Amino acid sequence: MSYDFDAPVHRRGSGSDKWDSVAQDVIPLWVADMDFAAPPELCAVLSARISHPFYGYNRRRPEYFEAILSWYREQYGVALEIQDILPCPGTVLSLGMAVRAFTRPGDGVLIMTPVYAPFYRLILENHRKVVEAPMVQDPEGRFIFDRAVLEESLDKAAALGVTAPLVIFCSPHNPGGRVWTKPEIEAFLNFVRDRNMIAVADEIHGDFVYAGEGPSSPEPGSGGFVSTALCTAYADRLLTVSGANKSFNLGGLHVSHMIVRDQKLKSAISPELQAGSHREPDVFAELAVETCYTRCKPWLRELKPYLKQNLEEAAAFLNGIPGVKAWVPGGTYLLWAGIQDLITRGGCKTDLELVSRLEQEAKVKITHGSLYGKAGAGYARINAASPRKLLLEGLERIRDWAKRH
Ligand SMILES: Cc1ncc(COP(=O)(O)O)c(C=O)c1O
Repeated sequence: MSYDFDAPVHRRGSGSDKWDSVAQDVIPLWVADMDFAAPPELCAVLSARISHPFYGYNRRRPEYFEAILSWYREQYGVALEIQDILPCPGTVLSLGMAVRAFTRPGDGVLIMTPVYAPFYRLILENHRKVVEAPMVQDPEGRFIFDRAVLEESLDKAAALGVTAPLVIFCSPHNPGGRVWTKPEIEAFLNFVRDRNMIAVADEIHGDFVYAGEGPSSPEPGSGGFVSTALCTAYADRLLTVSGANKSFNLGGLHVSHMIVRDQKLKSAISPELQAGSHREPDVFAELAVETCYTRCKPWLRELKPYLKQNLEEAAAFLNGIPGVKAWVPGGTYLLWAGIQDLITRGGCKTDLELVSRLEQEAKVKITHGSLYGKAGAGYARINAASPRKLLLEGLERIRDWAKRH
């Protein structure tokens, strides 16, 4: 292995949200931010750019678009044209743009819950209504796609006078870690078409899919991940948002892109970008994306098996703690775990209370499941993207706390 993912982390005092928001003695296993230094190939390119001390307005480089095109071609088997790509300043921001472009104040936006918490915020802050479709679990406890629940949620909202022209689809799913199969994605898109909706697919975790992981396995090919951008038959009602920021840990650079093939959809979304004055690119962000997509593939190729092992070891460890049930996810680097029995044993009323006590008493910070909606109550999310020793130390703290209760 040529990259050292076991290297100890020193991020305190760097302004890191993950590290500087917790006390000195707390191990942070919460926000989806990885504790691995960026690829050295990227650091070299950015350092060279920094040493050219002119940071004035930049032009967008054709190489940036070419890098995205080749990533989609090589990683997901998707053929795109440059005009299909809209550069954006962040995934959540672009989801908000879609909400404004395709719904009106007071409309509903459908989401499959539990789901990435900012989905709620971006809907509510844009004065739209959240229409929740709680996901169904198979006998193993893994989330599955169930059209009937989506239909029912829309119908219930309609009965209350709320129509939902837009649905936000998280693929792979955060926090559940589900990697939707091609039949599931097509079933979802058929639902979208039958209900005359627009779908925006958030595929920011698409590069973290671990092929061959049982019920979550997508079809073979496309590197294990099925991007909605493959589904050209639905292009007239589909926007795909993604970026390099999860794959290469560039969250702080605020850069993403949207794939929109349909001219009508593009005309609807583009004014939102213009209104936000997103024209010239950041000096570093798009250079970073271009570099990661072209020169940092070996880093990601080595990182994925490291993460897979982290996830497997962490799930096995957690499953050894009485009162905890964890699933190895098919995608993402996030573990979803049922903690209801531990909540009760610990004398807590809610997952939030348990997670707060773990932070204060066990000195480990994980995320409470109800942050992802009512359907997440009784669960917790654990970020496994840390050096293995640190991750296991964090989990040992949970186990030791559980032993005392
Ligand atoms: C599903 C999902 N979408 C979006 C984001 C954030 O993306 P961005 O930083 O580009 O807004 C995250 C971060 O964890 C995420 O999990």
